[in-house]
Formats: sequence, structure tokens, C-alpha cells
Amino acid sequence: MHTSELMATAQALVAPGKGILAADESTSTIKKRFDTIKLESTEENRRSYRELLFTTQGAAEYISGVIFYDETLRQKTKDGQPFPQVLADQGIIPGIKADTGLELLAGFPDEQITKGLDDLRQRLADYYQLGARFTKWRAVITIGPNLPTLGAIDANASAMARYAALCQEAGLVPIIEPEVLMDGSHTIERCEEVTSLTLKRMFDALYEQKVLLEGTLLKPNMVLPGKKAAQQATPQQVAEATIRCFRRVVPAAIPGIVFLSGGQSPEEATANLSAMNAMGAHPWELSFSYGRALQEPVLKHWQGQAGNIEAAQKAYAHRAKLNGAARSGHYTHVPRPFWPFCPGAHPLSRRSQCRC
Ligand code: 13P
Repeated sequence: MHTSELMATAQALVAPGKGILAADESTSTIKKRFDTIKLESTEENRRSYRELLFTTQGAAEYISGVIFYDETLRQKTKDGQPFPQVLADQGIIPGIKADTGLELLAGFPDEQITKGLDDLRQRLADYYQLGARFTKWRAVITIGPNLPTLGAIDANASAMARYAALCQEAGLVPIIEPEVLMDGSHTIERCEEVTSLTLKRMFDALYEQKVLLEGTLLKPNMVLPGKKAAQQATPQQVAEATIRCFRRVVPAAIPGIVFLSGGQSPEEATANLSAMNAMGAHPWELSFSYGRALQEPVLKHWQGQAGNIEAAQKAYAHRAKLNGAARSGHYTHVPRPFWPFCPGAHPLSRRSQCRC
């Protein structure tokens, strides 16, 4: 076991003021993101988009690690620099999505299981060689009238724990991502109940598989009402429910919790994280590992046009900085009139509101 290396990597990923960029969209997911800007998802477009992100000046001040997709880990900049090297040169730790997606769980209609265990030991050895030092595995839990079932939660917990043990054997920090989806009209109380149960069963499984918690990070959903719920929640309500839930079921030995954004707007994801950190000292670092909440403004500014790269990079650096502020509870979102000098604003934008 690579105990000290794992602990050092996990701690570096949740260093004060920093968090993770999740840029590990699979080929089918990045296609959906590119569809929103009417851009074809070719290998070259995916490569240039990722180059834009990874070469953004100033991002390294707030970004500790980046999660790649398998294809991206093997890609290079226009000048021939491998992406993992480009990040490592800036002090950013390269990571990799280690699961290979979801499939229906036999016997449990409407629930899914995460794939990727079969050839994982070999793939992890390759990923380490290519420069990765941490990995991610996402399981999906759905809230519905009779969902989730304990059968689906436990099947996912067991796969997650096997994955985490294999990562640590290979010297890679596992990030376990049990995502309770925001889809639906459930209340925040129901989300808290399901998130508690899910996390409890996940940590029981990690214990059984002898996973080193000090060398593991948790990437969960925040405790939120469903997207279609009649009653939405303020950042303070989200923070209180999330912290209460996590204090009950997440061991203090975990160095950090790096939230996913899960369909929240960039502003909501930042405000909710900031409210949690403003509540005071917690047993773990509370950080971010955002995909959409960091990248949505970048895609909007970029639009697939080389001439927009600078504006898109400014939007990314700006969002990273705001999330860096949320790490210490210092983000305040005050909607203000359109301000042409805002680094997140496109010079040609006709918006009447600054969306930073
Ligand atoms: P979102 O922040 O968009 O939820 O993405 C995080 C992620 O890595 C999903 O697996």
C-alpha cells in the first residue's frame, strides 16, 4: 500500500482555496454539451476545447486537479505537449474517470449500476504510467416513489469499494462519487434521507474492503430539493441540511468532500458551497469538483470559435476564482447591472445582466 503517497495526493487535492475541474465528460456527454453551442463533437474539437481549459492562465491558483476522460489523457496541445504534462507543469494534479459508464441493474427496473471493474487493474496501471495520480468512479442513485432500493444502493456500494481498493493498490487516490440525482419533485428532507442512507452503505462497504479513508475523497451531491420541487431552498438551508447529513455519516478520516454540481447553475453551486464553509470549521475540507458549474460559461463564451478563446479562458479563470473564494465562505453573489469590464462578460454580449 502506498499510504503516504495516497495521503499526500488526497490532501493536495483539497488544499485551501483550491478545488477540482471535472473535464471528464465521456464522448456521448461532451456531444450533449457541444450540441448546446451547435458544435460538432469531432476529436479535434474536443481536443481544442480541452486545450483551451488546460492552458488558461491563472487557473492553477484555484484548481488543484483536473479529471480527464480516457481519450483526453492521451491527447496533446497543438504544440505536441501531452495534456497531463501541461497540467503537472502548472502544479495541477492529473486525474482520470475510471468507470466506463452505467447500465441497467438486472432485477431492478429503473435503477443503474456502474461498469468498469473487469479490466480495471490493468487500466489503472496504464493511467499511472500516463501521469494520473487520482481517479473517479460515479454511481447514480435515483429518487422516485419506490426508489432507491437497498439492493441497488448496496450493489453500487460494493462495486465502488472494489474500485477504491484497486486504485489504492495502484497508488491512485480514489474519488468515490455516489450521486443522488436532483431529477424529480422530491423535498429536501427526502434528499437528506436518501443521501444519508447511500453514504452510510458506501462507507460500510469501504470499511469491509479495507480502503484507506485518509487516502480517499468523497464526491457527493449536495442535499437539495428536486429540480421540480414546489419549494426550492436557500443556500443557508442547503448548507444546514448538507452539513447535518454529512456529520452523521461521513467519517472524519476522509480528508475532503469535493461536491459535484449536478445541474445547479454555476452561481447556485458556488453560493451553496460558500454557505457551507461560512458555517465554520468542519471535520473535512469542503471543496468542489465541478463539471457544468465551471464549464457552462466557458462554452457560452467559446462557441467553438478560435477568436473567442481569450474570453472563454477569462470566464473559466473567473469562475475558478469565485469557487476558490467559496472554499473559505467568502463568495457573495450580488446580481449587478451589466458591467463591460467583468472578465466573465463577452465583449459582444447584449445581456442586460452580468452573469458572473
Ligand atoms: P457536474 O458538476 O456537472 O455534476 O459534473 C461533475 C461530474 O464529474 C459528474 O460525474
